[in-house]
Amino acid sequence: MSLSTDRPDIIHHLPPDHLGRSLRADVRAGLSASPKTLPPKWFYDKLGSELFERITGLPEYYPTRAEREVLELYAAEMAAASPAQTLIELGSGSSRKTPLLLNALRAEGSLRRYVAVDVSDSALLEARNELAPAFPGLELQAVAADFETQLHLLPRAGRRMVAFLGGTIGNFEPVARARFLSNVRELLGADGGSLLLGTDLVKSPHVLVPAYADAEGVTADFNRNVLRVLNSELGADFDVMAFEHVAVWMPQEEWIEMRLRASRPMLVRLPGVDMDVRFHEGEELRTEISAKFRLEGVVEEIEAAGFSAIGQWTDRQNRYAMTLAEAI
Ligand code: AVJ
Repeated sequence: MSLSTDRPDIIHHLPPDHLGRSLRADVRAGLSASPKTLPPKWFYDKLGSELFERITGLPEYYPTRAEREVLELYAAEMAAASPAQTLIELGSGSSRKTPLLLNALRAEGSLRRYVAVDVSDSALLEARNELAPAFPGLELQAVAADFETQLHLLPRAGRRMVAFLGGTIGNFEPVARARFLSNVRELLGADGGSLLLGTDLVKSPHVLVPAYADAEGVTADFNRNVLRVLNSELGADFDVMAFEHVAVWMPQEEWIEMRLRASRPMLVRLPGVDMDVRFHEGEELRTEISAKFRLEGVVEEIEAAGFSAIGQWTDRQNRYAMTLAEAI
């Protein structure tokens, strides 16, 4: 995992081993909890980022296409409502959909700078290589940072639009989500600016579950990748294929949970955190929640954090929403 490599073209605001340290802290806490959990951000080493890219093209995984559709239909309206000088994208990954926003903001004549923020160096580099030739004259910044804890390190100049796309906000539990939205509001300070938030919407489990348990097994492979990351970063000895992929819809919480189920009893050694961890047969390790939203719920949560919603758009099938809000 390119957690600690030093790339001259990426701004690392972080102490050198920051990500390694937070990985170890997360693993220590998550694997000694009951039930066991791991946060989803550790899926995304180079292979994990590639697997996620493949997920976005799967027939069952509609959110990426639905969000693209919303941007194709309405990016111009979004840009007109909030003509930013700086677009800051949190969890930008490969920045595939970003050109739709950049073009719209450029057409408004306001855009000067794009700041991509992601934990994955490989994704940041790829994004830069794609965008630089397509947007001559646009100042590009790639920032390797953890958007959950390091928003205060991001640039504060100019009129900003903070975009958090893909439905990634669904990875947070409600309390962490509220904290995150307040942190974004804080980042915008007294200068104003806006938040553009992409959220997948509540719908039938017959549509939701297959999106997280595709027929080809790409999501299963993506899910197991977190164990590969622990093997390579912490010298752990997970038998990756001995864990079965599980995706369940939790109707009460209105989120999808991804889990890894031990197919036999196992003792796993993790020298990097000085731990031995036991799994009993059938034990499930929770690796991700992906919350689904309702239109009014998104507005309520954003407004509770100090924003005022100024627009909300969905794809034609009402599967996915984008909400634009001004800092007040
Ligand atoms: C990148 C967090 C938006 O929750 O849908 C895709 C990740 N997990 N398939 C999502 C994911 C399984 C994705 N996000």
